[in-house]
Amino acid sequence: MNRSENFKGCFSHLFLPINRQLLGLFFQVCPSNQIFNGQKNPSKIKVLKFSDRVMRSIFFFLAFVVAAFAQDPDILYLTWKDDPSTTMTIVWHTDTGSKPLALFSKSADGEGWIEHTSSVERLCGSPIEIYQSELTNLAPDTEYFFRLDDGPLHRFRTLPDTLDRPLRVAVGGDAYQVKCIFEKINDTVASQSPDFAIVGGDVAYSEGLSTALRTHLWRVERWEEFFRIWTKQMVTSEGRIIPIMSTIGNHDLKEGFDNPMRHKVLYYQMFPLPRKGISYQKMKIGKDVCFFLLDSGHSYPPGGAQAEWLEKELKEEEDTSFKVPVYHIGAYPSETSYIHRGSKDIRKFWCPLFEKYGVKVSIENDNHTFKRTFPIRDGKVDRENGVIYVGDGAWGVTPLKPKRHWYLAKAAQTNCYWLVTFTKEGALYQAFNLEGQLIDELTVEID
Ligand SMILES: [Fe+2]
Repeated sequence: MNRSENFKGCFSHLFLPINRQLLGLFFQVCPSNQIFNGQKNPSKIKVLKFSDRVMRSIFFFLAFVVAAFAQDPDILYLTWKDDPSTTMTIVWHTDTGSKPLALFSKSADGEGWIEHTSSVERLCGSPIEIYQSELTNLAPDTEYFFRLDDGPLHRFRTLPDTLDRPLRVAVGGDAYQVKCIFEKINDTVASQSPDFAIVGGDVAYSEGLSTALRTHLWRVERWEEFFRIWTKQMVTSEGRIIPIMSTIGNHDLKEGFDNPMRHKVLYYQMFPLPRKGISYQKMKIGKDVCFFLLDSGHSYPPGGAQAEWLEKELKEEEDTSFKVPVYHIGAYPSETSYIHRGSKDIRKFWCPLFEKYGVKVSIENDNHTFKRTFPIRDGKVDRENGVIYVGDGAWGVTPLKPKRHWYLAKAAQTNCYWLVTFTKEGALYQAFNLEGQLIDELTVEID
């Protein structure tokens, strides 16, 4: 698997030192041309001119070859496991045995390059190594450059810690099931230049009934292909990489709450998490926005320790203007049954907490539709004080036909994702379809 990367990886390390030698050689050739052109020995000049042309041709040929090979790993993505205004975690995959690449960064208006250390972990049961490096002490809402060795220059921007400018987040789940749909939505998302994106579970579709007979290496390749596509497409028109955050879904692992080797599950190895082996986390952005990225019963049950943690964290964020839970299985599903066991658990353990601590909109996935519910409180429509549930996990999947549940204000069989824009005045939730057309919009004002 990943032979091209292996090939590139091996040869780029041979060529990179040659690249520097070639530059030296080139500059040796140029002065010699000037020197001999000034002498009165035509035959010598002729020979040297010929030699010069040959050398130049060789140089440009080799430079072309070097340029072709001196590339980054084809999986390179950004995410966070700490404060998104002051840190950035850079992840890249290589084949085992490839020479480690050094990571350098600098702020866009800064002077010198800073070299960073990285850690490496073997992707369980595969020949792939995952490198990650966390850049710290960064300035909020600031642009940085980085590169791996002598590879291409990349750009990212830290998140703002105030809402002095709008913060834009793309959210959607059920991503890499149908490649052409996934790629089409990716293009639309990237064209809107969000600050980052959240994939709400069923990221690479590496698990499930239809994959039961597949090998472990097939599952690995599924993840690798997801990230190859993400790496290639999730860059804005200005060249800024769009970081990825995620929640876990039922197609991301073989489900089980008692897996002592949880940290070796592919999902956990792909996404650096604030707490190793724990899938649910809080993502606080400045003092105004807080996402709760939850595990809707895939490697941790919604109740128990996770519900206790959620209540503690929601209480801590009581004064935060925007509290937005994102998770996979919906409390109020659009296509599956209202009495689906997973949905019942979310309604039992999480919805009362959302209502108690001032959540206005919750983002759900899994059902492969577009949906928006009425505001709901205590299991009933409450237009004054209810929580609105939007979704419903249709990023890169074949869309399904929604049912006519009593709580659905709107629903449709279409691909979609949500773009959430936070400002000092409120939050704007907009749903876009596969063609990038706006299909729904709702505003939440600050109390
Ligand atoms: Fe799902």
